[in-house]
Amino acid sequence: MYQKYYRQFLQGAAESAASGAKAPLHMACHSHHYWPDITLEAVQQYWQDSARLADSKWGPIFEQKIPAWQAAVARVLNLPAPDRIALAPNTHELVFRLISAFDLSRPLRILTTDGEFYSFTRQLQRLEEEANVEVTRIHKEPYDTLAERFEQELHHGHYELAYASQVFFDSGIAFPDLAGIAGRKPERTEFVIDGYHGYFARPTDLGEIADKVFYTAGSYKYQGAGEGLCFMSIPAGCTLRPLYTGWFADMAELENRADQVGFADNWLRFAGSTMDYSTLYKAVAILELFEREGITVEKIHEYVRGRQQQFLATMDSAGHPLLNRQNLIYHDLERGHGHFFTFDCTTAQRARQLQEELLTRGVLCDRRQQLLRLGFAIYQDENETFQRVFS
Ligand SMILES: Cc1ncc(COP(=O)(O)O)c(C=O)c1O
Repeated sequence: MYQKYYRQFLQGAAESAASGAKAPLHMACHSHHYWPDITLEAVQQYWQDSARLADSKWGPIFEQKIPAWQAAVARVLNLPAPDRIALAPNTHELVFRLISAFDLSRPLRILTTDGEFYSFTRQLQRLEEEANVEVTRIHKEPYDTLAERFEQELHHGHYELAYASQVFFDSGIAFPDLAGIAGRKPERTEFVIDGYHGYFARPTDLGEIADKVFYTAGSYKYQGAGEGLCFMSIPAGCTLRPLYTGWFADMAELENRADQVGFADNWLRFAGSTMDYSTLYKAVAILELFEREGITVEKIHEYVRGRQQQFLATMDSAGHPLLNRQNLIYHDLERGHGHFFTFDCTTAQRARQLQEELLTRGVLCDRRQQLLRLGFAIYQDENETFQRVFS
């Protein structure tokens, strides 16, 4: 059904398989989605614009491509102000830019969970070496009470910053009621939602909280545009002045240099500096294609849920020693899960062995220590039974 948009990656994967072997079943899509065919044309377009326009290419990039992409992302997430969507090559840069806006000579209290992605976890650990930085990590488990425990602490403590994932990277579980918690946050706390495993996977409407949260995500995963293009939406009226700032942050200043470092009242406040925009071209091409073809995030989610149900049905009758309901980490498979399943194989060695075994059957997946992750995407065949995962 949707495979026709991904012929080149599907064909590439089939060609790279050993001769005579079946085409691989790509289940590492939560890590890196295949790119739709249209991205080839988009990359060529980037090259042609660079060749034709040389230094003048920045005009179309800043006046056409970035606004087109911001408008499309805003439609996907129901964000009211496309020009408050900042872009950068990765989310780490954007999040660190935000952190750098706090007065680092004063106490900086951060509330988060013990389930955040390495990028943030490592940065926090390093920050914690500073005497004035204090981090409170709420245990993600049990998920039943996570929302209540997190919100209670958010209001009880005096936090400058709160940070949590929309969907946890190690399990696929969606943080229960995160948007509600963000909407009720105290005025004094800046709130970041790490939407990397939610964006373009789970239908996400930020309309009501757009002016309360920073929402970060990237195009490498579910959007399938590749690495190098991440974003962060900025609440209205944001006056933060990042310490870590690049020359894109105040374009006007180049012509009219002020004594003080100036900041724009739009996404450029959180801009860095020169980057490669080929992924921007790819992302715009995908967003336009999907809009033309009526492929919404709701439809993607529905399709993926169908694939997940098929997988579970096959799993339940397979009797596999590791890939079974007991080892599957979940909370609410019906309404509160992302686009991959995680199995706790109890030891890293068991998980590695299983991953290698799956590879011999052409099933591509990934692993984080003892956790084996199997993902779902619209480029998986609608008739796929996932039988070869289990036998
Ligand atoms: C939850 C989450 N956040 C962020 C990232 C990416 O971080 P960065 O953009 O700093 O590479 C990932 C990548 O796997 C992720 O899973």
